[in-house]
Amino acid sequence: MCGIVGYIGTKQAAPIILDGLSKLEYRGYDSAGMAIYDGSKINITKSVGRLKVLENLTHGGESMPGLCGIGHTRWATHGVPNNTNAHPHFNAAETIAVVHNGIIENYLQLRRMLIDKGYQFVSETDTEVLAHLLDYYYKGNPLEAVTKVLHRVEGSYALGILFADCPDQIFAARKDSPLIVGQNEDGCFIASDVPAILKYTRKVYYVDNQEVVRLRADHMHFYTVDEEEISKTPVIIEWDANAAEKAGYEHFMLKEMYEQPKTVNDTLMPRIKDNDIVIEELNMTDEELRAIRKIHIVACGSAYHAGMTGKYVIEGLARVPVEVDLASEFRYRNPILEEGAMVVVISQSGETADTLAALRESKARGFKVLGIVNVVGSSIAREADNVMYTWAGPEIAVATTKAYSAQLIALYLLAMKLGRVRGQIDGDTFQSLLGDLKCLPDQIELLLNNKNKIQKFANRYIGAKDVFFIGRGIDYAISLEGSLKLKEISYIHSEAYAAGELKHGTISLIEEGTLVAAVSTQPDLYAKTISNMVEVKARGAFVLAVTCEENKEIEKAADYVIYIPETNPYFANSLAIIPLQLFGYYVSVGKGCDVDKPRNLAKSVTVE
Ligand code: AGP
Repeated sequence: MCGIVGYIGTKQAAPIILDGLSKLEYRGYDSAGMAIYDGSKINITKSVGRLKVLENLTHGGESMPGLCGIGHTRWATHGVPNNTNAHPHFNAAETIAVVHNGIIENYLQLRRMLIDKGYQFVSETDTEVLAHLLDYYYKGNPLEAVTKVLHRVEGSYALGILFADCPDQIFAARKDSPLIVGQNEDGCFIASDVPAILKYTRKVYYVDNQEVVRLRADHMHFYTVDEEEISKTPVIIEWDANAAEKAGYEHFMLKEMYEQPKTVNDTLMPRIKDNDIVIEELNMTDEELRAIRKIHIVACGSAYHAGMTGKYVIEGLARVPVEVDLASEFRYRNPILEEGAMVVVISQSGETADTLAALRESKARGFKVLGIVNVVGSSIAREADNVMYTWAGPEIAVATTKAYSAQLIALYLLAMKLGRVRGQIDGDTFQSLLGDLKCLPDQIELLLNNKNKIQKFANRYIGAKDVFFIGRGIDYAISLEGSLKLKEISYIHSEAYAAGELKHGTISLIEEGTLVAAVSTQPDLYAKTISNMVEVKARGAFVLAVTCEENKEIEKAADYVIYIPETNPYFANSLAIIPLQLFGYYVSVGKGCDVDKPRNLAKSVTVE
């Protein structure tokens, strides 16, 4: 996820763009850049690191005079954070500049087509394709060039475009990535999100999918991708400036929970091509995939919990033995890694010290390491042999939600790829699984809309002393994550237990009114989990059940039931975790805790 800003008007553009980008750093901050038209040509300045570096480099924008320009703060998806890959990107003649938020899914084939036509590329990014494609279609009519490009690209985009030949206008276009435009007496603005321009205007237009905007200093025109002019209704923003950075959400965690449909989609869809799973970044032939004899998944915290689910799904779908380790244990237990083993490390930040150490230990023993990572160019991403990015965008809240959900998707894709290649999944089953995967974003959206019901239930437990989460199989992995979400942001003691294990001691802690959350999404284990629910109820527990819509039987044993939509049991974690995330969030809010920055915690644990 990146942030883009554009301006054209009567004021100096660079300071306005820098100010706007500073309000979008939550969207990405590994590099930044601006393209400003100085009256005769477009000048581009880019820098690696936080936006402050660009501000210092351009003396607050003073060294880039001009009344129109575009700017970008990056969250790298394709190409590590460096000056070459930072946006804006130029065509070869430096007469067209573009900034982009999103993923051009067919960029490789467009790149090959343009190279065949003599174009040369300097960066590793998907975005640079847009600059050369605009050049290819530009014959003097900028709107025509923009719309022709939009008909060629697949994927998601929010664009800002500047043509040196037409410095009295800038262009914006949108598909799936957020984009707004606005106007005040000094000019017109483009932005990825409201915070960037809220200080200049509260009257904004939300650009809809496949719409194009031509912005001049004193007016804007809206078009479809077929160049038909359309009219749009403005929206008056009521938020205060601080709230706007969270796009109107009270906390980043809530915002990021609501981004899960998109981050699941962004992690999933680019890897599904022609009803098959294509994970180019694995860099492994089918032969090599078939040769894998064991997978070691190594991670910490929620990433470890995702790995636990990965174990059940990979062993279930691909019949490859999987061992899951806490990185802090793996690195010191002299692990037994045998020939044919593959190590998979999972890390949102890509900087977790224990996970990085586990990666290095594995490589030192001569084993290939696959990283499932969210931060492009992070230490783990750089040192892993291959990286499967989760494309969840920057996650600000310490308690992970959208990155965790994206990690699950990466593991499902890996499991299905392995299962298909190793002949464990037949064609019909594979297509049915693909169909269930594609439904997940909408189903997550549905569950998120349940938040008021969850908040009401959560308010009953802000005074709780102990909360237990139980489940069998994948439901145990879900329980681990549900328990961590609650305790790390509400400071209430919570434990997750394999449901069959509780009676081996811990059940002695169950008292009258103790909340036990029973996760039951695995049909072949419904009856077993119900027995465990009855056991704790007999000791006075209040049982919350999270289960599938079909499992009405559970109502006999549960005091409160949250249903999730039907999906393949292997993917149930992606749905069951949503109400548990919301539960932890609302208990924390109800207790008045600092949801986004819980005590004692850090977003990335870069020490042992
Ligand atoms: C999860 O909500 C926590 N923030 C924490 O457990 C986290 O998952 C763990 O520290 C691993 O971080 P990583 O994914 O960046 O490696």
